[in-house]
Amino acid sequence: MKCPACQHENRPGAKFCEECAAALARACPNCGSAVSDSAKFCPECAHPLTAASVQTRFASPESYTPKHLAERILTSKSALEGERKQVTVLFCDVVGSTSLAERLGPESMHALLNRFFELALSEVHRYEGTINQFLGDGFMALFGAPVAHEDHASRAVLAAVTIQRRLEERHTELIGAHGGELSVRIGLNTGPVVVGKIGDNLRMDYTAVGDTTNLAARLQQLAEPGVILVSDATRRQVGEQFRLEPLPPVTVKGKAEPVQAYRILGLASRRSPRWERPSTRFVGRERELGVLSDLLEQAERGQGQTVGIVGEPGVGKSRLLYELRQGLAERRVTYLEGRYPSYCASIPYLPVLDIIRTNCGIVDADPPEAVADKVRFAVEEVSMDPQKAVPYLLNLLGVKDESGTMEALAPDVIRARTLETLRQLAVKGSQRRPIIFAVEDVHWVDRPSGEYFDSLVENLPGAMILFVATYRPGYRPPWLDRSYATQIALRPLSQPESQSVVHAVASENRLADAVSLLILAKAEGNPFFLEDAIDVDRGP
Ligand SMILES: Nc1ncnc2c1ncn2[C@@H]1O[C@H](COP(=O)(O)OP(=O)(O)OP(=O)(O)O)[C@@H](O)[C@H]1O
Ligand SMILES: [Mg+2]
Repeated sequence: MKCPACQHENRPGAKFCEECAAALARACPNCGSAVSDSAKFCPECAHPLTAASVQTRFASPESYTPKHLAERILTSKSALEGERKQVTVLFCDVVGSTSLAERLGPESMHALLNRFFELALSEVHRYEGTINQFLGDGFMALFGAPVAHEDHASRAVLAAVTIQRRLEERHTELIGAHGGELSVRIGLNTGPVVVGKIGDNLRMDYTAVGDTTNLAARLQQLAEPGVILVSDATRRQVGEQFRLEPLPPVTVKGKAEPVQAYRILGLASRRSPRWERPSTRFVGRERELGVLSDLLEQAERGQGQTVGIVGEPGVGKSRLLYELRQGLAERRVTYLEGRYPSYCASIPYLPVLDIIRTNCGIVDADPPEAVADKVRFAVEEVSMDPQKAVPYLLNLLGVKDESGTMEALAPDVIRARTLETLRQLAVKGSQRRPIIFAVEDVHWVDRPSGEYFDSLVENLPGAMILFVATYRPGYRPPWLDRSYATQIALRPLSQPESQSVVHAVASENRLADAVSLLILAKAEGNPFFLEDAIDVDRGP
């Protein structure tokens, strides 16, 4: 009997894998007898088998894989079969499900597991991972195959972080009236697998190479409830995108040397842009800065404006915003900026959180009480009712609100009121002092933030707000047709402008003329390529 987690061959009839302890066969939770996959009641003790409908809902990958992912898997499957691919493997398991099942009873337990799987799967799919196996009360997911992604490790860790976060947020709703604790352990590892056959029902076979899956399964078992553990291989891939804490090396069965594992503490709080301080002298873009300045003047007169800055990667969108901000020193304007990290797709509300933090003056080191005080102060400052507004903002910031307002509300209501609170905060704030709202890389926009930006843009007429978004070609903001919307398309730098960037850096680094010319020709006016080529030429 083959273990679905680590592929180890076990003796027939075994219930758990002797290699990684994953569940092999379905057993009755009441008497422990082996039961078939389709059984609704135990043939030994007639106990209702809770997993029956969990298994029906999640019986085949077709039934739970979103259509857009399914199509991508099927179109690339023949190219993939037999390929050796780097992947990140995620194991997730519900803690103490046996005692939870005893407390809740079979019906509620299976409803709970269903709700949990829905939640977890939607996070895995958000980052374009696929569920490879359901393992009793948990699952194994793969990132990097069958849907290829260079940044599979980041995506996998992000999925893990959001599963834990969403579980916390929706704990009361998931558990219902029964009480009890629902938490999961998650383990991740990165390494090669050989992709096997991918069926028309999307089920993918694979052969683990070395300990790729095994180590992920072991880390999951080692994790404390609510904790995410990653291997050193995964840590090396995700770089500085997450805050993590090294654990003392652990011995793992099947490995001679102790293994280094890391606990994920959260997203790194400073998602640094490619540069904090520009290294090149700013050239050109006088016309674009002029347009931005005109639009700001209109906004200051109460005719709110929205502007999109569109351009290829590296052409200078962020730099233009930086220069706009530098030019504000003398002006009575509040500048609030939010951005998406460049390495991943949408995380709900991420840029909005940046904006709230800056607006309220919240810093990373603030304890929850300080965050709550600052939020209350900011709300009162713009004459909003703190009782109505503060709970929603604290909820967004992940700070527990002592008033308990949230607990009684349905998620839809929370969403609508959060949106309204954010909208009012911006509009009322701008009545005291004009605001520039800048959102970087809005092509990554997530749904809740998108709804907020749309509602804000709708309210611009009559408000002293300039809303600026940067994005890459191919994305079109929904508000572009409005009468108060402008788009600035950033073209490559002209030849003289490029020359001036190269000359400034080249003379500093004593580059030969021939090298400068070559760089100019290769970069085609893209300032990032200009800098990059000079850096490469200069060596490490
Ligand atoms: N007009 C300019 N003069 C001098 N340097 C520039 C200019 N525009 C951009 N740069 C430099 O080129 C590099 C890339 O620019 P920037 O990061 O603004 O590009 P971007 O369009 O925001 O790219 P992405 O889409 O990847 O975010 C930066 O180091 C920036 O300082
Ligand atoms: Mg940028």
